[in-house]
Amino acid sequence: MKANELKRKYIDYFVKKGHTEIPSASLIPENDPSVLFTTAGMHPLAPYLLGEKHPAGRRLVDCQKCIRTGDIDEVGDASHLTMFQMMGNWSLGDYFKNESIEMSYDFLVNVLGIDPANLAVTAFAGDENAPRDEETVAIWKSMGMKDEQIFFYGKKENWWGPAGVTGPCGPDTEIFFVDQSKPKCSADCGPACHCGRYLEIWNNVFMEYNKNAEGKYEKLQQQNVDTGLGLERTLCVLEHIPSVYETEFFLPIIEVIEKASGLQYGQAVKEFRIIADHMRAAVFILGDDKGVAPSNLDQGYVLRKLIRRTIRYLQKLGMDWQPMMDIAETVVREYAGEYPELERNKAFIIEQLQNEAVKFAKTLDQGLRLTERILDGIEENGTMDGEEAFKLYTSFGFPLDLTIELAAEKGIKVDSVKFEALFKEHQEISRAGSLQKFKGGLADASEETTKLHTATHLLGAALRKVLGPDVHQKGSNITAERLRFDFSFERKLTKEELTEVERLVNEAIKAGIEVNCEEMTLGEARDRQAEGVFGDKYGDMVKVYTIGDVSCEICGGPHVTNTAQIGGFKIKKEEASSAGVRRIKAVVGEQYA
Ligand code: SER
Repeated sequence: MKANELKRKYIDYFVKKGHTEIPSASLIPENDPSVLFTTAGMHPLAPYLLGEKHPAGRRLVDCQKCIRTGDIDEVGDASHLTMFQMMGNWSLGDYFKNESIEMSYDFLVNVLGIDPANLAVTAFAGDENAPRDEETVAIWKSMGMKDEQIFFYGKKENWWGPAGVTGPCGPDTEIFFVDQSKPKCSADCGPACHCGRYLEIWNNVFMEYNKNAEGKYEKLQQQNVDTGLGLERTLCVLEHIPSVYETEFFLPIIEVIEKASGLQYGQAVKEFRIIADHMRAAVFILGDDKGVAPSNLDQGYVLRKLIRRTIRYLQKLGMDWQPMMDIAETVVREYAGEYPELERNKAFIIEQLQNEAVKFAKTLDQGLRLTERILDGIEENGTMDGEEAFKLYTSFGFPLDLTIELAAEKGIKVDSVKFEALFKEHQEISRAGSLQKFKGGLADASEETTKLHTATHLLGAALRKVLGPDVHQKGSNITAERLRFDFSFERKLTKEELTEVERLVNEAIKAGIEVNCEEMTLGEARDRQAEGVFGDKYGDMVKVYTIGDVSCEICGGPHVTNTAQIGGFKIKKEEASSAGVRRIKAVVGEQYA
């Protein structure tokens, strides 16, 4: 079975069961400061899981491109990927456990033909937040699953979400494919074990809780289902392929690396996998319409890391960075059918990869010279201080293994224990920083963020009025404190332009204009000249928010009902975000009226 066929079967199955197909959202979350990337299909749907009405109805299905950065450093095993595709079906306050589990089982066993004897499932063991999920187990048993195929686990394994610090979440039941050719590695070997016998393919989350800013789990007003079935992994299972890297998703990329290196995949499996995974993810991030470029911040930093690691591994296999360009071209060619944005943004992808390769070469050069100087000061058989090695890491991105390699050439050791200690400390500091930054929470629908959502529409409209109709949104990120708006524009704004933009927004606020929401088809929205990314495949029905004759925009909401509620508006900062994209940070409130 081919990947597209599998994807189609999945979508068709759920459409027949009353779901509406929606398109894959951007990899960069809209309005949501709680995570850098879309990590699951539920992410763009968070407001609807919290109770907003979705224009496409209460049953949805899609295949969402996702990025998970948690284990970039561990990529290389048989099943973990930085970018992966998640097929998902949702009930927004519609069906719950019974129907959800029945459909998952029916699809796997009757549509895909997987032998139920090769499945194992898990359920939530219960704690102070939610009861032991006997209900789920009873449903699995009614499907014919035996006791030995069912496993209970606690929150660590069987509770999903929130995706960020706050948001919808709940107990889940995960479905595993059991590789019967691998014996149990120990008496208590089960789905939670990492020995390779159990491969998680599908997760059904029963999202009936919201984790709030105080860390409390409160019941949501509706019972939702959020599921995710890994496309790459399911393809492996159906095709009896041992790793995701040997599926049709990766073979063309592996071939390019073989050709460029003169090596066979089997001679350097881990290196091939890392190069293929990182380049595929980097091309998808660059190819997103949001226009993220490599930088030292947020998504740009992850992108930089992916590109630089790719180059390092190419070098390890004796190549320079040039093959990276052939790999990128291959990814665009292979995936553009399903993700047309890659073709649309191909010039940007290629240009940014080249720029980054040149920058990295310069950094490497400087780093090598400093390493040389440090090593010259150490006697043969001596040891390089872990702090020096760590400095090479933070200033030049030199991973420990590179420094060890360079030192070894001169018969010098590196104090890697000290390096690791400093590294851990550094990670903890940045994690704490991220948590602080993400405190605003996932899809926070508080009064403050609602005001900022509407102010964002007014800001976009004002920018178009002052700078011209070619200004469009490239990204939006809202916390309880401020809005951050990225838009297409080539140069720094003048003081006069900024003052005029601010004045126009405040004028609309003062005028007390009603904010109207209507549902309509994408075609109708286009006829209204609503603002929105029409290049994307939108779902059939969309929500359009109109603010008098000031603004008309496709958006999921939420918004205030009258602009007067915003109080006032002030721009705090205007700066470059990436090439051709500017960024404005602004605040709202009575004090800025
Ligand atoms: N959100 C759940 C997961 O990522 C189901 O899609 O596993």
